[in-house]
Amino acid sequence: MPTAVLPLGTLSDAHGRVARDLRVSLTDRCNLRCTYCMPAEGLPWLPGRDILTDEEVARLVGVAVHLLGVRKVRFTGGEPLLRPGLAGIVAAATGLRTDEGVPPETSLTTNGIGLDRRAASLAGAGLGRVNVSLDSLDRTRYAALARRDRLDDVLGGLAAADAAGLHPVKVNTVVMRGANEQDVVPLARFCIEHGYRLRFIEQMPLGPEHGWDRSTMVPAAEILDALRTAFTLTPIDGRGAAPAQEWRVAAAPGHPAGRIGVIASVTAPFCGDCDRTRLTADGQLRTCLFSRTETDLRTPLRDGADDVELARLWLGAHRAKAAGHGIDSPGFRPPARTMSSIGG
Ligand code: 5AD
Ligand code: SF4
Repeated sequence: MPTAVLPLGTLSDAHGRVARDLRVSLTDRCNLRCTYCMPAEGLPWLPGRDILTDEEVARLVGVAVHLLGVRKVRFTGGEPLLRPGLAGIVAAATGLRTDEGVPPETSLTTNGIGLDRRAASLAGAGLGRVNVSLDSLDRTRYAALARRDRLDDVLGGLAAADAAGLHPVKVNTVVMRGANEQDVVPLARFCIEHGYRLRFIEQMPLGPEHGWDRSTMVPAAEILDALRTAFTLTPIDGRGAAPAQEWRVAAAPGHPAGRIGVIASVTAPFCGDCDRTRLTADGQLRTCLFSRTETDLRTPLRDGADDVELARLWLGAHRAKAAGHGIDSPGFRPPARTMSSIGG
Protein backbone atom coordinates (compact mmCIF):
# COMPACT_ATOMS: atom_id res chain seq x y z
CA MET A 1 0.00 0.00 0.00
CA PRO A 2 1.34 3.50 -0.75
CA THR A 3 2.24 5.48 2.37
CA ALA A 4 0.77 8.82 1.31
CA VAL A 5 -2.88 7.83 0.97
CA LEU A 6 -5.29 10.45 2.15
CA PRO A 7 -7.48 9.31 5.03
CA LEU A 8 -11.08 8.78 4.07
CA GLY A 9 -12.32 10.01 7.43
CA THR A 10 -12.05 9.29 11.12
CA LEU A 11 -14.10 6.77 13.07
CA SER A 12 -16.40 9.31 14.68
CA ASP A 13 -19.73 8.60 16.27
CA ALA A 14 -22.87 10.48 17.26
CA HIS A 15 -21.51 11.02 20.79
CA GLY A 16 -18.51 13.11 19.77
CA ARG A 17 -15.90 10.37 20.11
CA VAL A 18 -13.23 9.39 17.59
CA ALA A 19 -11.76 5.87 17.62
CA ARG A 20 -7.98 5.93 17.22
CA ASP A 21 -7.18 2.67 18.99
CA LEU A 22 -7.75 -0.65 17.22
CA ARG A 23 -7.85 -3.94 19.17
CA VAL A 24 -7.33 -6.95 16.95
CA SER A 25 -8.03 -10.44 18.22
CA LEU A 26 -5.73 -12.94 16.49
CA THR A 27 -7.29 -16.12 17.83
CA ASP A 28 -10.11 -17.14 20.16
CA ARG A 29 -8.01 -20.00 21.55
CA CYS A 30 -6.13 -19.97 24.79
CA ASN A 31 -3.80 -22.22 26.76
CA LEU A 32 -5.31 -21.11 30.09
CA ARG A 33 -8.88 -21.40 31.36
CA CYS A 34 -9.20 -18.41 33.69
CA THR A 35 -12.38 -18.98 35.66
CA TYR A 36 -13.80 -15.52 34.87
CA CYS A 37 -13.22 -16.02 31.16
CA MET A 38 -13.74 -19.61 30.07
CA PRO A 39 -15.38 -22.81 31.25
CA ALA A 40 -12.96 -25.55 32.33
CA GLU A 41 -13.53 -27.53 29.14
CA GLY A 42 -12.84 -24.54 26.88
CA LEU A 43 -15.24 -23.24 24.25
CA PRO A 44 -16.24 -24.34 20.77
CA TRP A 45 -13.39 -22.71 18.82
CA LEU A 46 -13.99 -20.75 15.64
CA PRO A 47 -13.51 -22.89 12.54
CA GLY A 48 -10.14 -22.31 10.89
CA ARG A 49 -11.64 -21.16 7.58
CA ASP A 50 -13.41 -18.32 9.39
CA ILE A 51 -10.22 -16.98 10.94
CA LEU A 52 -8.61 -14.18 8.98
CA THR A 53 -5.28 -15.11 7.44
CA ASP A 54 -2.18 -13.11 8.36
CA GLU A 55 -2.49 -11.22 5.06
CA GLU A 56 -6.16 -10.44 5.69
CA VAL A 57 -5.41 -9.13 9.19
CA ALA A 58 -2.59 -6.98 7.82
CA ARG A 59 -4.85 -5.62 5.12
CA LEU A 60 -7.61 -4.60 7.56
CA VAL A 61 -5.10 -3.03 9.95
CA GLY A 62 -3.79 -1.12 6.92
CA VAL A 63 -7.29 0.13 6.11
CA ALA A 64 -7.74 1.30 9.70
CA VAL A 65 -4.38 3.09 9.88
CA HIS A 66 -4.12 4.49 6.35
CA LEU A 67 -7.73 5.37 5.66
CA LEU A 68 -9.42 5.78 9.04
CA GLY A 69 -6.99 7.62 11.29
CA VAL A 70 -6.20 4.74 13.65
CA ARG A 71 -2.96 5.43 15.56
CA LYS A 72 -2.65 2.54 18.02
CA VAL A 73 -2.94 -1.16 17.34
CA ARG A 74 -3.22 -3.72 20.11
CA PHE A 75 -3.09 -7.45 19.41
CA THR A 76 -5.16 -9.65 21.71
CA GLY A 77 -6.94 -13.00 21.77
CA GLY A 78 -7.69 -15.50 23.17
CA GLU A 79 -3.97 -15.81 23.54
CA PRO A 80 -2.22 -14.01 20.66
CA LEU A 81 1.10 -15.82 21.25
CA LEU A 82 -0.67 -18.94 19.94
CA ARG A 83 -0.82 -17.31 16.52
CA PRO A 84 2.19 -18.59 14.55
CA GLY A 85 2.33 -15.53 12.26
CA LEU A 86 2.26 -13.00 15.10
CA ALA A 87 5.70 -11.45 14.48
CA GLY A 88 4.92 -11.01 10.78
CA ILE A 89 1.59 -9.34 11.58
CA VAL A 90 3.33 -7.02 14.04
CA ALA A 91 5.97 -6.17 11.42
CA ALA A 92 3.26 -5.40 8.85
CA ALA A 93 1.52 -3.09 11.32
CA THR A 94 4.67 -1.23 12.30
CA GLY A 95 5.48 -0.77 8.61
CA LEU A 96 2.36 1.42 8.25
CA ARG A 97 2.29 5.18 8.77
CA THR A 98 -0.50 6.98 10.61
CA ASP A 99 -2.06 10.29 9.59
CA GLU A 100 0.69 11.84 11.73
CA GLY A 101 3.35 10.18 9.57
CA VAL A 102 4.68 7.79 12.21
CA PRO A 103 4.27 4.04 12.74
CA PRO A 104 1.21 3.15 14.84
CA GLU A 105 1.94 2.37 18.48
CA THR A 106 1.70 -1.39 18.85
CA SER A 107 1.10 -3.53 21.92
CA LEU A 108 0.21 -7.09 22.84
CA THR A 109 -2.20 -8.30 25.53
CA THR A 110 -1.02 -11.75 26.57
CA ASN A 111 -1.13 -14.24 29.40
CA GLY A 112 2.67 -14.34 29.17
CA ILE A 113 3.06 -18.07 28.47
CA GLY A 114 5.80 -18.50 25.88
CA LEU A 115 6.71 -14.84 26.02
CA ASP A 116 10.11 -15.77 27.42
CA ARG A 117 10.97 -17.31 24.03
CA ARG A 118 9.19 -14.74 21.86
CA ALA A 119 9.82 -11.34 23.50
CA ALA A 120 13.07 -10.57 21.70
CA SER A 121 11.78 -11.47 18.24
CA LEU A 122 8.57 -9.50 18.80
CA ALA A 123 10.60 -6.47 19.87
CA GLY A 124 12.67 -7.00 16.71
CA ALA A 125 9.47 -6.99 14.64
CA GLY A 126 8.73 -3.55 16.06
CA LEU A 127 6.31 -4.39 18.89
CA GLY A 128 6.08 -1.46 21.30
CA ARG A 129 5.03 -3.03 24.59
CA VAL A 130 3.05 -5.74 26.35
CA ASN A 131 0.21 -6.12 28.86
CA VAL A 132 0.58 -9.36 30.76
CA SER A 133 -2.32 -10.86 32.74
CA LEU A 134 -1.36 -12.04 36.21
CA ASP A 135 -3.96 -12.61 38.91
CA SER A 136 -1.86 -14.02 41.74
CA LEU A 137 1.75 -14.53 42.81
CA ASP A 138 0.78 -17.54 44.86
CA ARG A 139 1.29 -20.67 42.82
CA THR A 140 -1.72 -22.50 44.20
CA ARG A 141 -4.09 -19.58 43.77
CA TYR A 142 -2.72 -18.84 40.31
CA ALA A 143 -3.28 -22.44 39.29
CA ALA A 144 -6.81 -22.38 40.70
CA LEU A 145 -7.72 -19.17 38.88
CA ALA A 146 -6.11 -20.00 35.54
CA ARG A 147 -6.87 -23.74 35.91
CA ARG A 148 -3.27 -24.36 34.83
CA ASP A 149 -0.10 -24.45 36.93
CA ARG A 150 1.84 -21.91 34.84
CA LEU A 151 2.86 -19.13 37.22
CA ASP A 152 6.58 -19.61 36.58
CA ASP A 153 6.10 -19.33 32.81
CA VAL A 154 4.30 -16.03 33.26
CA LEU A 155 7.00 -14.64 35.54
CA GLY A 156 9.63 -15.72 33.01
CA GLY A 157 7.64 -14.02 30.25
CA LEU A 158 7.46 -10.78 32.20
CA ALA A 159 11.20 -10.77 32.82
CA ALA A 160 11.88 -11.45 29.13
CA ALA A 161 9.57 -8.63 28.02
CA ASP A 162 11.38 -6.28 30.37
CA ALA A 163 14.79 -7.41 29.10
CA ALA A 164 13.64 -7.00 25.47
CA GLY A 165 12.67 -3.38 26.13
CA LEU A 166 8.92 -3.84 25.65
CA HIS A 167 8.30 -0.88 27.97
CA PRO A 168 6.34 0.05 29.90
CA VAL A 169 5.58 -3.56 30.83
CA LYS A 170 2.00 -3.49 32.12
CA VAL A 171 0.36 -6.15 34.27
CA ASN A 172 -3.43 -6.68 34.38
CA THR A 173 -5.10 -8.22 37.41
CA VAL A 174 -8.80 -9.05 37.67
CA VAL A 175 -9.74 -9.05 41.36
CA MET A 176 -12.36 -11.55 42.48
CA ARG A 177 -13.97 -11.96 45.84
CA GLY A 178 -12.88 -15.05 47.70
CA ALA A 179 -10.31 -15.84 45.01
CA ASN A 180 -7.43 -13.36 44.97
CA GLU A 181 -8.27 -10.37 47.15
CA GLN A 182 -5.30 -11.23 49.35
CA ASP A 183 -3.04 -10.84 46.31
CA VAL A 184 -3.71 -7.14 45.78
CA VAL A 185 -0.92 -5.80 48.01
CA PRO A 186 1.71 -8.47 47.15
CA LEU A 187 1.08 -7.98 43.42
CA ALA A 188 1.42 -4.22 43.83
CA ARG A 189 4.68 -4.61 45.73
CA PHE A 190 6.08 -7.05 43.18
CA CYS A 191 5.23 -4.79 40.24
CA ILE A 192 6.58 -1.66 41.89
CA GLU A 193 9.84 -3.44 42.71
CA HIS A 194 10.22 -4.63 39.11
CA GLY A 195 9.13 -1.36 37.49
CA TYR A 196 6.01 -2.96 35.96
CA ARG A 197 2.81 -0.91 35.78
CA LEU A 198 0.05 -2.84 37.46
CA ARG A 199 -3.61 -2.20 36.69
CA PHE A 200 -6.37 -3.82 38.68
CA ILE A 201 -9.53 -4.49 36.67
CA GLU A 202 -13.08 -4.79 37.95
CA GLN A 203 -14.55 -8.03 36.71
CA MET A 204 -16.99 -7.46 33.86
CA PRO A 205 -19.98 -9.60 32.82
CA LEU A 206 -18.18 -11.22 29.90
CA GLY A 207 -17.23 -14.63 31.15
CA PRO A 208 -18.90 -18.03 31.03
CA GLU A 209 -22.66 -17.88 31.42
CA HIS A 210 -23.86 -16.92 34.90
CA GLY A 211 -20.24 -16.40 35.95
CA TRP A 212 -20.72 -12.80 37.00
CA ASP A 213 -22.69 -11.06 39.61
CA ARG A 214 -22.27 -7.70 41.19
CA SER A 215 -21.73 -9.08 44.68
CA THR A 216 -18.69 -11.12 43.67
CA MET A 217 -17.19 -8.22 41.75
CA VAL A 218 -14.65 -6.36 43.87
CA PRO A 219 -15.24 -2.64 43.19
CA ALA A 220 -12.40 -0.19 42.58
CA ALA A 221 -13.09 1.58 45.89
CA GLU A 222 -12.39 -1.64 47.77
CA ILE A 223 -9.19 -2.31 45.83
CA LEU A 224 -7.98 1.20 46.65
CA ASP A 225 -8.80 0.71 50.34
CA ALA A 226 -6.67 -2.43 50.35
CA LEU A 227 -3.80 -0.60 48.62
CA ARG A 228 -3.97 2.29 51.08
CA THR A 229 -3.29 -0.07 53.97
CA ALA A 230 0.20 -0.60 52.51
CA PHE A 231 1.03 2.39 50.30
CA THR A 232 0.68 6.16 50.08
CA LEU A 233 -1.25 6.94 46.89
CA THR A 234 -1.62 10.25 45.05
CA PRO A 235 -3.92 10.46 42.01
CA ILE A 236 -2.32 11.20 38.65
CA ASP A 237 -4.47 13.52 36.52
CA GLY A 238 -5.00 13.48 32.79
CA ARG A 239 -6.15 9.99 31.99
CA GLY A 240 -7.60 10.99 28.59
CA ALA A 241 -9.09 7.99 26.82
CA ALA A 242 -7.15 5.54 29.01
CA PRO A 243 -9.44 3.30 31.05
CA ALA A 244 -7.19 3.25 34.12
CA GLN A 245 -7.31 5.86 36.82
CA GLU A 246 -3.67 6.00 37.88
CA TRP A 247 -2.06 6.59 41.24
CA ARG A 248 1.48 7.50 42.14
CA VAL A 249 2.87 5.28 44.89
CA ALA A 250 5.31 7.08 47.16
CA ALA A 251 8.68 5.43 47.78
CA ALA A 252 8.95 3.84 51.22
CA PRO A 253 11.41 1.62 53.07
CA GLY A 254 11.46 -1.64 51.13
CA HIS A 255 10.16 -0.34 47.79
CA PRO A 256 10.84 2.45 45.29
CA ALA A 257 8.22 4.87 43.94
CA GLY A 258 5.86 3.52 41.30
CA ARG A 259 2.45 3.81 39.75
CA ILE A 260 -0.67 1.71 39.94
CA GLY A 261 -3.90 1.90 37.97
CA VAL A 262 -7.44 0.80 38.66
CA ILE A 263 -9.82 0.11 35.80
CA ALA A 264 -13.32 0.67 37.17
CA SER A 265 -15.18 -0.48 34.07
CA VAL A 266 -18.30 -1.27 36.04
CA THR A 267 -18.49 1.27 38.90
CA ALA A 268 -17.06 4.22 36.93
CA PRO A 269 -17.53 3.51 33.22
CA PHE A 270 -15.26 5.45 30.88
CA CYS A 271 -17.44 4.94 27.80
CA GLY A 272 -17.73 8.72 27.32
CA ASP A 273 -14.00 8.85 26.49
CA CYS A 274 -13.80 5.56 24.60
CA ASP A 275 -11.51 5.71 21.56
CA ARG A 276 -11.59 2.01 20.64
CA THR A 277 -12.65 -0.06 17.70
CA ARG A 278 -12.36 -3.85 17.63
CA LEU A 279 -11.80 -6.57 15.09
CA THR A 280 -12.42 -10.21 16.02
CA ALA A 281 -10.27 -13.08 14.78
CA ASP A 282 -13.02 -14.01 12.33
CA GLY A 283 -13.14 -10.57 10.79
CA GLN A 284 -16.12 -9.04 12.57
CA LEU A 285 -15.99 -5.39 13.48
CA ARG A 286 -17.27 -4.41 16.92
CA THR A 287 -17.59 -0.85 18.12
CA CYS A 288 -17.71 -1.93 21.79
CA LEU A 289 -16.74 -4.93 23.93
CA PHE A 290 -20.41 -5.16 24.85
CA SER A 291 -21.90 -4.73 21.37
CA ARG A 292 -24.70 -7.12 20.57
CA THR A 293 -24.21 -6.57 16.86
CA GLU A 294 -21.17 -6.91 14.62
CA THR A 295 -20.29 -5.76 11.11
CA ASP A 296 -18.91 -8.50 8.90
CA LEU A 297 -15.75 -7.36 7.13
CA ARG A 298 -14.53 -10.84 6.26
CA THR A 299 -17.21 -11.59 3.68
CA PRO A 300 -16.77 -8.38 1.67
CA LEU A 301 -12.98 -8.71 2.01
CA ARG A 302 -13.08 -12.24 0.56
CA ASP A 303 -15.60 -11.17 -2.08
CA GLY A 304 -13.09 -8.67 -3.45
CA ALA A 305 -14.08 -5.36 -1.83
CA ASP A 306 -11.36 -2.72 -2.20
CA ASP A 307 -9.85 -0.81 0.72
CA VAL A 308 -12.15 2.18 0.32
CA GLU A 309 -15.24 -0.02 0.37
CA LEU A 310 -14.02 -1.74 3.54
CA ALA A 311 -13.25 1.64 5.11
CA ARG A 312 -16.77 2.87 4.31
CA LEU A 313 -18.30 -0.14 6.08
CA TRP A 314 -16.12 0.60 9.10
CA LEU A 315 -17.12 4.29 9.13
CA GLY A 316 -20.80 3.40 8.89
CA ALA A 317 -20.59 0.99 11.82
CA HIS A 318 -18.91 3.60 14.01
CA ARG A 319 -21.49 6.26 13.35
CA ALA A 320 -23.90 3.97 15.17
CA LYS A 321 -21.59 3.21 18.12
CA ALA A 322 -23.62 3.02 21.34
CA ALA A 323 -23.06 5.65 24.04
CA GLY A 324 -22.09 3.11 26.67
CA HIS A 325 -22.09 -0.51 27.77
CA GLY A 326 -25.25 -0.11 29.86
CA ILE A 327 -24.20 -2.68 32.50
CA ASP A 328 -26.24 -0.64 34.96
CA SER A 329 -29.41 -0.44 32.91
CA PRO A 330 -32.23 -2.87 33.77
CA GLY A 331 -32.37 -4.43 30.30
CA PHE A 332 -28.62 -5.15 30.11
CA ARG A 333 -27.71 -8.36 28.38
CA PRO A 334 -24.09 -9.41 27.95
CA PRO A 335 -22.83 -10.01 24.42
CA ALA A 336 -23.25 -13.45 22.93
CA ARG A 337 -19.48 -13.91 22.66
CA THR A 338 -17.10 -14.14 25.60
CA MET A 339 -14.03 -11.96 26.08
CA SER A 340 -11.74 -14.62 24.63
CA SER A 341 -13.50 -14.54 21.29
CA ILE A 342 -14.06 -10.78 21.20
CA GLY A 343 -10.54 -9.76 22.18
CA GLY A 344 -9.79 -7.98 25.43
N1 5AD B 1 -13.64 -8.88 33.32
C1 5AD B 1 -12.53 -8.11 33.39
N2 5AD B 1 -11.38 -8.43 32.78
C2 5AD B 1 -11.35 -9.56 32.07
N3 5AD B 1 -10.36 -10.12 31.36
C3 5AD B 1 -10.83 -11.24 30.81
N4 5AD B 1 -12.12 -11.44 31.14
C4 5AD B 1 -12.47 -10.41 31.94
C5 5AD B 1 -13.65 -10.03 32.61
N5 5AD B 1 -14.76 -10.76 32.56
C6 5AD B 1 -9.03 -9.53 31.30
C7 5AD B 1 -7.92 -10.53 31.29
C8 5AD B 1 -6.85 -9.81 30.51
C9 5AD B 1 -7.57 -8.79 29.70
C10 5AD B 1 -7.51 -9.06 28.26
O1 5AD B 1 -8.91 -8.81 30.10
O2 5AD B 1 -7.47 -10.83 32.56
O3 5AD B 1 -5.94 -9.16 31.36
FE1 SF4 C 1 -6.97 -17.09 28.28
FE2 SF4 C 1 -7.02 -14.48 28.81
FE3 SF4 C 1 -9.27 -15.89 28.95
FE4 SF4 C 1 -7.36 -16.30 30.80
S1 SF4 C 1 -8.50 -14.39 30.46
S2 SF4 C 1 -8.52 -17.90 29.68
S3 SF4 C 1 -5.52 -15.97 29.62
S4 SF4 C 1 -8.10 -15.53 27.11
